[in-house]
Amino acid sequence: MELRIEKVNEKKAKPDYDNLTFGAHFTDHMFVMDYHEDEGWHDARIVPYAPLEMDPASIVFHYGQAVFEGLKAYPSSDHALLFRPDKNFQRLNTSNERMNIPPVDERFLVDALKQLVQLDQDWLPNQEGQSLYIRPFIIGTEAALSVKPAAQYKLMIILSPVGAYYTGGDQLSPVSIYVEDDFVRSVRGGVGFAKTAGNYAASLKAQMNAATYGYDQVLWLDAVEKRYIEEVGSMNIFFKINGEVYTPPLNGSILPGITRDSVIELIRYWGYTIREEPITVDEVIAAHQNGELEEVFGTGTAAVISPVGILKWKDEEITINENKAGKLALDLYDTITSIQTGSQTDSFGWTKHVPLVTEPKQP
Ligand code: COI
Repeated sequence: MELRIEKVNEKKAKPDYDNLTFGAHFTDHMFVMDYHEDEGWHDARIVPYAPLEMDPASIVFHYGQAVFEGLKAYPSSDHALLFRPDKNFQRLNTSNERMNIPPVDERFLVDALKQLVQLDQDWLPNQEGQSLYIRPFIIGTEAALSVKPAAQYKLMIILSPVGAYYTGGDQLSPVSIYVEDDFVRSVRGGVGFAKTAGNYAASLKAQMNAATYGYDQVLWLDAVEKRYIEEVGSMNIFFKINGEVYTPPLNGSILPGITRDSVIELIRYWGYTIREEPITVDEVIAAHQNGELEEVFGTGTAAVISPVGILKWKDEEITINENKAGKLALDLYDTITSIQTGSQTDSFGWTKHVPLVTEPKQP
């Protein structure tokens, strides 16, 4: 498929990079591609960033046929680095399959993304802890009120220069977590493993409740027994107990995080025992009471590695590692961000290079 490029006439003013929050500013261009059941995916284009005009009857507005991804680009000398973009587009297709959205050409999209990042390269932040966040998404655009898969879709990729995901702290200040024992996020056979918008909409009520009680994030338990730990609002979760590292297995209701996968690979490479096994909240509390709970941290594209300092479960509130980032979380953060930014050799082959273009100087 051809990729058409239409550049902006005038670039937008850049935000204040010294006070960059998460996902509040968007670059000059966006990638768009349409699907029609008679034509397949077509008309791939990079165009000036602009609002969409959509039919109010578009299926996405009524029945939530929407999937998305999140990945990051980092500047590194004369190129930008994308972290495992192939995995994101692979997961997009997994989500597509579950949400009855037609599959996309993963390699074409990685190439198109490289061109988009290159075109908006002057938006790449270069301060510690910042990156260019990339949000690919697909929505059902057919105007129809019957409940059915749309016959038309739009795939878009937008870019946003970002700082730390959690507000009010630097990237490594520990977050506090409320273990939700009423609402559930997902159940096996549902859509928990898919990165679909409704999963996040359904989490908002619990997220707001947790904030009212003074906690940063919600930890979800399994929907059947409400004992087994699943994931945190925007992250997968890991526990270091007595020298071994535990994380819940991908059982169909948990998001298969790409940072989760990278962390597992690193931890194994460093010689730790990693157990992808069901773990209950009682086991975590008991480990804490025995003095064996050494560290808890979350992993995610937006959050990178986020230490957990406080865990609240029913009447119990435990403080982990004196509410400080633990050594394993710090080592993981350093190693992953060094690979992402190119300051450490990527012996895993995770990063993909985007050459940056140097504009010819005006005489
Ligand atoms: C990500 O980590 O990229 C996510 O998609 C999580 C969130 C911001 C919804």
